[in-house]
Amino acid sequence: MPCFLRYLPRAVSEQRSHYKRVFELSNEIFENIKLNEQKNIFQTYKRLPVIITRGKGVNVWDIDNKKYIDFLSGISVCNLGHCPDFITRAICEQAKRLVHVSNIYYTENQIILSQQLVSSSFADAIFFCNSGTEAIEGVIKTARRYSYEYYGKDRSRIIVMENAFHGRTLGALSATSQPKFHKGFGPMMEGFDVVPYDNPEAIEKAIGSATCGVLLEPVQGEGGVCIPDAGYLKKVRAICSKHNLLMILDEIQTGMGRTGRLWAYEHSGIEPDIITSAKAIANGLPCGAILATDKVAKVMEPGTHGSTFGGSPLVCAAAIEVMNALLNNSVLENCNKMGAYFLSRLKLLGEKYSFIKDVRGIGLMIGMELDRPCQDVVLKCLDKGFLINCTQESVLRFLPPLIIQKQEIDQLYAVLDEIFEKW
Ligand SMILES: Cc1ncc(COP(=O)(O)O)c(C=O)c1O
Repeated sequence: MPCFLRYLPRAVSEQRSHYKRVFELSNEIFENIKLNEQKNIFQTYKRLPVIITRGKGVNVWDIDNKKYIDFLSGISVCNLGHCPDFITRAICEQAKRLVHVSNIYYTENQIILSQQLVSSSFADAIFFCNSGTEAIEGVIKTARRYSYEYYGKDRSRIIVMENAFHGRTLGALSATSQPKFHKGFGPMMEGFDVVPYDNPEAIEKAIGSATCGVLLEPVQGEGGVCIPDAGYLKKVRAICSKHNLLMILDEIQTGMGRTGRLWAYEHSGIEPDIITSAKAIANGLPCGAILATDKVAKVMEPGTHGSTFGGSPLVCAAAIEVMNALLNNSVLENCNKMGAYFLSRLKLLGEKYSFIKDVRGIGLMIGMELDRPCQDVVLKCLDKGFLINCTQESVLRFLPPLIIQKQEIDQLYAVLDEIFEKW
């Protein structure tokens, strides 16, 4: 079945006279895939009714060769668009040379990528892993070990934020303070103290003798694109420095150019002690990273941590190209320009429709909060050929590739206007 699927778009374009039959066939295939998915795969995702078969730039196509404009980028993963030639080429060439060897050997790509990450951030050293949640697990361990080495064994608690999202494995889930993600998975891991986001005083109040760090997102993504006050990170930095706590920023969604800077912390003029990255770092190949200062990194001695696949030659080949693109060309400039334009267009809708409570964004990380559930809008947009997302039930989230252009934004604007008009 999957091989057959791959050839369907060609069949559609080449055999117009058989279009109806192909369409029936694709419906049949769709139903078949749905049934098999229900039978064979954990039902952990509420999937949208579309089978996506290929992508290029800001577009993806479904099994019927219908074209969509992607305003989600796989939830801020394909920040440079789908299958850019220079990344595809790097992956193919590396796949022919070397895909994987254990981290007990040196590999060149990992060194090149770590140099790029170090020279473009506050960090002195990197740990490579495979995903966001794995990076968070790694920072929890790193923060505890740091405190153990420098301050003794009774200092292991981390202050985390209400409404945060850090991942699904047990450590990251325990740091994720939203109860809906915890249900039935208890007991959660000990050692996290939850305070309201964007409230520096609450952090200061929560600090105890066992506190070793503060973990937060520069902008809460899953939490509904919540952007804190401009001076917030600076205040958190000052509190952490005053109490010798590690300032740990989860840049898994905000990093790799999403907010218009390579890292979101750059907007606030501070330097954290640790950040986590994942999602867009290899534009779709699984890669995660911990970036830390030398003082932090050196507590993680040989044998303290590891990851079989972390920083493989293949994944790093893609990530090197991502870094080259973000550092050397106009992607970030486009992100800022298009982000401002997109936000202004959505704000126009905000003025027109009273059910829009708020429109907020930074770079191309934009949320539109409604006074009602918004999944219906997501489905209507899908029908019209646009991929968007709804988070926290009532916040439409837009995370387009950073190469998006005015004309695509205008097309989505017109479609949203049409949907809202009839709503
Ligand atoms: C801020 C943040 N942290 C962590 C994660 C978890 O990343 P992953 O799904 O790669 O484990 C996510 C995923 O959405 C995220 O947005």
